Amino acid sequence: MAFFLLYLSLFLCSSTFFYLLFLRFTLQRRLSLPPGSFGLPIIGETLQLISAYKTENPEPFIDDRVNRYGNLFSTHIFGERTVFSADPEVNRFVLQNEGRLFESSYPTSISNLLGKHSLLLMKGNLHKRMHSLTMSFANSPIIRNDLLVDIDRLIRLNLDSWTNKVFLQDQAKKITFSLTVKQLMSYDPGEWTEQLRKEYLLVIDGFFGLPLPFFFTTYGRAIKARTKVAEALRLIVRERRKEFEENINNRKKDMLNALFLEEGGGISDEEIVDFLVALLVAGYETTSTIMTLAVKFLTETPLALAQLKKEQEGIRAKKNETESLEWSDYKSMPFTQCVINETLRVSNIISGVFRRATTDVNIKGFTIPKGWKVFASFRAVHLDQDYYKEARTFNPWRWQNENDISEAPSTASSQGNTYTPFGGGPRLCPGYELARVEISVFLHYLVTKYSWEPAEKDKLVFFPTTRTQKNYPINVHRRKLGHEL
Ligand code: HEM
Repeated sequence: MAFFLLYLSLFLCSSTFFYLLFLRFTLQRRLSLPPGSFGLPIIGETLQLISAYKTENPEPFIDDRVNRYGNLFSTHIFGERTVFSADPEVNRFVLQNEGRLFESSYPTSISNLLGKHSLLLMKGNLHKRMHSLTMSFANSPIIRNDLLVDIDRLIRLNLDSWTNKVFLQDQAKKITFSLTVKQLMSYDPGEWTEQLRKEYLLVIDGFFGLPLPFFFTTYGRAIKARTKVAEALRLIVRERRKEFEENINNRKKDMLNALFLEEGGGISDEEIVDFLVALLVAGYETTSTIMTLAVKFLTETPLALAQLKKEQEGIRAKKNETESLEWSDYKSMPFTQCVINETLRVSNIISGVFRRATTDVNIKGFTIPKGWKVFASFRAVHLDQDYYKEARTFNPWRWQNENDISEAPSTASSQGNTYTPFGGGPRLCPGYELARVEISVFLHYLVTKYSWEPAEKDKLVFFPTTRTQKNYPINVHRRKLGHEL
């Protein structure tokens, strides 16, 4: 019997292997797939992908295959046939054809954490409507007239509490969390928001762990924390809906209010909760990582730090010490914008986006078959020497002639065709301007209030491709404007 089972399993394994091999060659001939390799049956090249990202090299998996096959290659990861693109034209095509030839596609493990009504998972007209609602809550006039005052106040509040040694990534996360909660539902930081944030940290960890839903795994704990976060938000939504209905003349001007107003209250509490959870996820880790890494790069590039300080001190010198920043101040920080651009170029944690082809798509002489996944890698383009000279060096001055930051990030520079840190097309990040303003205000107060040096030998890897970098401890020293204390 044992012999028979062994024989059967050997037979099944080898026939699956030859079937996949056959499939690969016939598909490759029939459809002219981008060249590549599908690795082992079932697991494909998933292990190579995971182990590559444990190194400090920013794009090992992609670099290696681009050298062998070119900017468009096929692979098989996480159980799916996938085309990787390191080609800016293909990336743009994929982004612009969202909803026509491609649709966004996340594994179930991720959608369970986001919630099925999150903007990232919505499709069609509903997505269009909710995307533009989100945009209308983070556009320039709203930031200028409503949000900037809170951004300024909450960042200052956080920085004023610093003494001696601070863990920069932690502080940046506290800042972005409190700003998002304020913007979404008008809550100031306090015990409640801190409790919620702690649960949130567990949810975020779930995005990076193996999706095994047991109580002792990171993913299992994330699912549990997600339920708690949803419960807490549900209570707020219920309370606020009641207030909204009773208090017609004195409503708050936040995102929650806008959601209640949508089509006469047509969005259920459950949908609103999912929507809020995903918005908190989208703006939190991304913005706080860029804040932390901008400081790290500035620390390691003293000339850039000196130039940014001069710019920010110039702005502060025209104001008294406690006066808030205004929109015109934000608009007169050209070098700070170069630093933000460059930090986003070299170390955005969103290295690219996944989509699924909804039909056979012909591009650049190849076919991406219907049902296949596509990974449009922004980072591979951002770190390509063909588009950025000495692409793997932090050099904010490269943006100096491009510093007219326009309203659309894809046109933020003449390199706009290759520079897509906020994606593009119908899913363009609705928080792109908000993130820039938050990072700019943070840098303003950091350099005008403090000087600092790293507190430990650097533990943060240069490119945050792995979760090994957790924090960036610095020793801070309070300054009087223009003087080191
Ligand atoms: C440095 C900070 C940020 C970066 C690098 C970033 C990057 C991105 C990228 C690349 C996408 C496109 C995803 C896709 O096409 O599938 C995206 C989508 C999104 N971002 Fe951001 N983001 C940042 C900050 C924010 C902030 C502050 C918010 C809060 C309003 C936000 C909210 C969103 C939402 C809701 C989506 C989904 C849009 C959709 O699917 O229609 N992001 N972000």
